[in-house]
Amino acid sequence: MNKVDVIIVGSGIAALQLAVHLPRHLHVIIITKSHKRKSNSSLAQGGVAAAVSADDHTFSHYLDTLEAGRHLNNRQAVYDLTHEAPAIIQELIDDHCLFDRDEDGNLQLGKEGAHRFSRIIHGGGDQTGRTIVQYLLKKLGRNVQMLEDQSVYELLVNENGHCYGVKSKTKNDQSRITVAPHVVLSTGGCGQLYSLTSNSEAATGDGISLAYWAGAKVVDMEFVQFHPTLLFTNGETKGLVSEAVRGQGARIVDEQGNYFMDGVHPMGDLGPRHIVAQTIFERLESGKSVYLDISTIKDFEGEFPTVTALCHRNGVFGKIPVAPGSHFLMGGVKTDDLGSTNVPGLYAIGEVACTGVHGANRLASNSLLEGLVYGKRLATFIAKEPASILDHAHRSSDYEALPNISLPTKKEIQSHMMKRVGIVRDEESLQVQREWIESFELDKWIRADFSQLTKQQWSIVSMLQTCWLITNAALTRTESRGGHFRSDFPCENDTWQVKQTTQTLEMRRS
Ligand code: SIN
Repeated sequence: MNKVDVIIVGSGIAALQLAVHLPRHLHVIIITKSHKRKSNSSLAQGGVAAAVSADDHTFSHYLDTLEAGRHLNNRQAVYDLTHEAPAIIQELIDDHCLFDRDEDGNLQLGKEGAHRFSRIIHGGGDQTGRTIVQYLLKKLGRNVQMLEDQSVYELLVNENGHCYGVKSKTKNDQSRITVAPHVVLSTGGCGQLYSLTSNSEAATGDGISLAYWAGAKVVDMEFVQFHPTLLFTNGETKGLVSEAVRGQGARIVDEQGNYFMDGVHPMGDLGPRHIVAQTIFERLESGKSVYLDISTIKDFEGEFPTVTALCHRNGVFGKIPVAPGSHFLMGGVKTDDLGSTNVPGLYAIGEVACTGVHGANRLASNSLLEGLVYGKRLATFIAKEPASILDHAHRSSDYEALPNISLPTKKEIQSHMMKRVGIVRDEESLQVQREWIESFELDKWIRADFSQLTKQQWSIVSMLQTCWLITNAALTRTESRGGHFRSDFPCENDTWQVKQTTQTLEMRRS
């Protein structure tokens, strides 16, 4: 058994920011199931939103975040996030994190959907995530140990309901136990539950199922954001085409070159993501194609090297065929303003957490910001916590035998989620999906001894659990709001504006 002070599961921006800001006398372990440079954060193109220009105001950023979130947001959390944004950017600049500047040396500020002002700080053109990840990796102290290719499959919870560690499997399937008074989930989102997605292979929602099985509250799971513009060829999405491309003047067009978003939302192509994604989706469903016309952007290759390389790799030169795909989970493990969950000793930060800042739909470029702000906040909190003595007494574990039923493939899960719980859902499609998930005897799989499962089996069980949570929440919310569109309840319903969907499981075991 390995004993440390802080365990961080995941290696995106929130995880690294936390690790960098924790005091150097604390022994920190980062456990990541893939490679430290392969997180969703590394793929982030757009940037970090912050009201830093003279004509902008943090209150305007606050209002834009609420409007995009369709007012389901936790207002205090939004207020704090948007007000802390300029200082967190300044801190990075002072510490030589390189953001793009114009010829006069001023920060270049991009524009993205649903923002009233140009306030997106970016690095390396469209390589902002990579720029910040590299910067944070360089700053990690010797107190931080990084374990790659290691999958956490269980959170340990003692008799008092306190989380005190994790069980993980190495690349060679060796089981490991690591204990610590602070266990932080920073596993990112779950875009990979859908067949069309911008997300990295690792984004399968593990942190959600781990937390749920440990007794944590999971909220707002129906709110999955679909990004309107992923490169789309041969019926598959190939990667993100940043909203910053539209911010620089690219237009969404049909086969004839018509700008069809103009009559749909006053902000046109730069309207809120759910509106743009739903409109493009309808067009594609009716057999039409949708493109981004980039002809007005002078130095496209220079400004968007990642998108250019992606297009060229896929044989696209000129206008870019696009389709929406899953991009971000607004819901997640419920936390307070520091990242604490209802399970003592267990924290969640970044996309896996639901702090309430995003409401029903996240405003563009607020996710890297969230990771930076909450990572640092949690570090400050943990630094002040007195070192606690760990109680390792396990809860009794009544494992059940592994069910004698084969699990679905990842591809099957993805295509069913896309079709039944995707951009447009209704009661019938959701019921069908819930029954399909339950037909694999999920309740039995989660009572089995996980150490008996192969990594692949565990991953499928975990994906099914997260899909079930999304589906169940989507059935519960009988309205449409932000990322959640129900064709049988197509309007917002005011009584839902003040309600979250909350799901908890009595402790599975530990
Ligand atoms: C993008 O670059 O379009 C994505 C940025 C974000 O999701 O905030």
